[in-house]
Amino acid sequence: MSTVSPQQLTEYVDEPRAERRIQVPKHPQWPPLSRAQKDELKGRIARLLVAQDAVLVAHYYTDADLQSLAEETGGFVADSLEMARFGSESPASTLVVCGVRFMGETAKIINPEKRVLMPDLAATCSLDEGCPADTFTAFCDRNPDRTVVVYANTSADVKARADWVVTSSIALPVVQHLHERGEKVLWAPDKYLGHYVERMTGADMLLWQGSCVVHEEFKGFALNRLRRLHPDAAVLVHPESPDEVVDQADLVGSTTQLIKAVNEMPNPEFIVATDEGIFWKMHQLAPRKTLIAAPTAGVGATCESCAHCPWMAMNALQNLEQVLLTGGREIHIDPKVRERAVLPIQRMLDFAREHGIGVKHDTD
Ligand code: 13P
Ligand code: SF4
Repeated sequence: MSTVSPQQLTEYVDEPRAERRIQVPKHPQWPPLSRAQKDELKGRIARLLVAQDAVLVAHYYTDADLQSLAEETGGFVADSLEMARFGSESPASTLVVCGVRFMGETAKIINPEKRVLMPDLAATCSLDEGCPADTFTAFCDRNPDRTVVVYANTSADVKARADWVVTSSIALPVVQHLHERGEKVLWAPDKYLGHYVERMTGADMLLWQGSCVVHEEFKGFALNRLRRLHPDAAVLVHPESPDEVVDQADLVGSTTQLIKAVNEMPNPEFIVATDEGIFWKMHQLAPRKTLIAAPTAGVGATCESCAHCPWMAMNALQNLEQVLLTGGREIHIDPKVRERAVLPIQRMLDFAREHGIGVKHDTD
């Protein structure tokens, strides 16, 4: 771990102020639909997708109906690295991104010629919200000797200031590569993922102090108790979780890597520390395995998201149909910002290709 000067310590204290301003929304309550209503709605959306030469790209944390519809209509369900890649590979002229805003923005940055729509443009992310571009730029300017590596969960403006963009699938090998080249790293925004990468690689990393409000709720003490009740269960943890949770993991990885583990590890049971939306894909690939949600603070306690991202929950069949009907909620990126932001994203995609990381459909 890097040692910090008194001036840098001030920065450590200052930066989280932005994070504390984050308003975590309540989970939206969508009017319940019967099976027949759902099927009808899905049918209408499928026809709109064809008529508009559009394809659905959904994240594993979105509603099960969206994930299944994406697969049934020739779209794709994936982690954030593969979502970025799929957008470029698909011949469709419109990408409908069901996920959070940075995923739509990344798709638009890589595919400026395509129309990129999202069911709700207010679907943001606490990591993105907790890393405002102006404060972040000042942080980088004060540390010019460091290579700037930002997590994909950031705004286009923050990406435009970075040397590298990474996702959780690729953060370790990229930082390992930089460390081997003797480079010191400035990392943002997730302090837990940053600390995990720092511990695994031994790289000299200066960390922004952001966090994911969903993963931060997993509790080490309660997990330890649960593990004792399920001695045959493997513990799968997304690296946005706190250290005391990561330290109990049999496997730490991106959403795709956690799904692969359920399919490939011999254990009959899995304790899973990530957003519960991932269970749909895990069940689909490994129906005989038992999946247990890792403990959070619990409903009614300090738990705000209770293992389900409130921004991912803003995506539903209803507003997906609306966006296809109206063409509103389109992602636009300032061309000057795009010109700079595409470079660190492309660097990540090139690195992934050269190192065979996260090959498409690797959960199949
Ligand atoms: P993945 O890249 O692992 O899908 O993670 C994205 C994310 O937002 C996790 O909270
Ligand atoms: Fe952001 Fe956390 Fe939601 Fe992922 S789960 S989109 S990191 S708030």
